[in-house]
Amino acid sequence: MAETRSGGEYVHGTHRSEQERLTLMNEILNARTLAEVRVRPGERILDVGSGLGQMSIAMAKAAGAGGRVLGIERSREQIARAQAARHAAGLEETQVEFRAGDALRLSLRDDECGSFDLAFTRFLLEHVPHPLGVVERMVRAVRPGGRIVLCDDDHEILRLHPEPAGLREVWRAYMALYDRVGNDPMVGRRLVQLLHEAGAKPARNTWVWFGACSGEPMFGPTVVNMMEILRGAGERMISERLTTATELNSCIEELRAFATRPDAAVWFAMALAEGIRPG
Ligand SMILES: C[S@@+](CC[C@H](N)C(=O)[O-])C[C@H]1O[C@@H](n2cnc3c(N)ncnc32)[C@H](O)[C@@H]1O
Repeated sequence: MAETRSGGEYVHGTHRSEQERLTLMNEILNARTLAEVRVRPGERILDVGSGLGQMSIAMAKAAGAGGRVLGIERSREQIARAQAARHAAGLEETQVEFRAGDALRLSLRDDECGSFDLAFTRFLLEHVPHPLGVVERMVRAVRPGGRIVLCDDDHEILRLHPEPAGLREVWRAYMALYDRVGNDPMVGRRLVQLLHEAGAKPARNTWVWFGACSGEPMFGPTVVNMMEILRGAGERMISERLTTATELNSCIEELRAFATRPDAAVWFAMALAEGIRPG
C-alpha cells in the first residue's frame, strides 16, 4: 500500500456542462442505487468521491435523523456545489458533511477511522490508477462487521440497437482514453476481486440497470448522458489521436437521431458489489 495519492486523471472534468451531466446521471440512477445499497436508519456512512453530493444527500435522508454521511471529494468546485445542495435539501452539516480529500488519503480524524457502518463509492474507481488502495482504505474506515459497497462501470457491456453508425469505434476510443491515462474502463468486473484483495469478505454481486428504450421517460436522459460523456472527453480523445473531430461529431449526431427512434433500446448497467469487514 505504498501509494498515498491517487494521482488519477479525471477524464470528465468539473466544468458546468459536466456538472449538468452528473446531475442527470444522478436523477437516472439514485433511486435504483439506493434500493441496492439498502441504507439502514442511523447508519454512519462514508461516501468516497462524493462529487456534487446528490447521492450522499439521498443516503443521509435514508439514514434519517440519527444517521450521518461524510463525503470525501478532491474537487473544491464539486464540494461547493454539494454544500449548496445540502443547504437546499434542508440538511445540517451534522447530517451530511463534505470534506476535501483524496481517495487514497481520506482525511479522516483518528476517531473516525474504523467507525463507519458503511463505506460507499460510485464511479470513482474507474478514475484512479490504484483502485485497490482506495478499497483498502474503505475497508479500514468501517467498523468490524461494517459494509463496503462499490459501484462502477464496465464499459465493455454497452449495447445499443439499432446500433448508431460509428458508435462502436468512438466508444472504443473512449475506453482507450482510460487506458491512456492509467485507469481501467472495465473496473466494474473487478469489484468483488478488489473487495477480497482488500481484506473484506465478498457478500453480494449485482447490476443496477442503466438502460432504457424509446417510450420510457428515462430513455432520452440515458442517451443524452452518453452523448455528453463523449462530448466531454472529446477534446482529449482527439488530442490523444484516439478519434477525429469528424468521427466524434458524426457519432454524436447519430446518437441524437437514435434518441428520436420509436424502436431504440439501450442495454447498460452499473456493477455493484458489497463486502463485509471481518470481525
Ligand atoms: C463521476 S463523479 C461521481 C460522483 C458521485 N460519486 C456520484 O456518483 O454522483 C467522480 C467524482 O470523483 C472525484 N474524484 C476523482 N478522483 C478522485 C480522487 N482521487 N479522490 C477524491 N475524489 C476524486 C471527481 O472530482 C468527481 O467528483
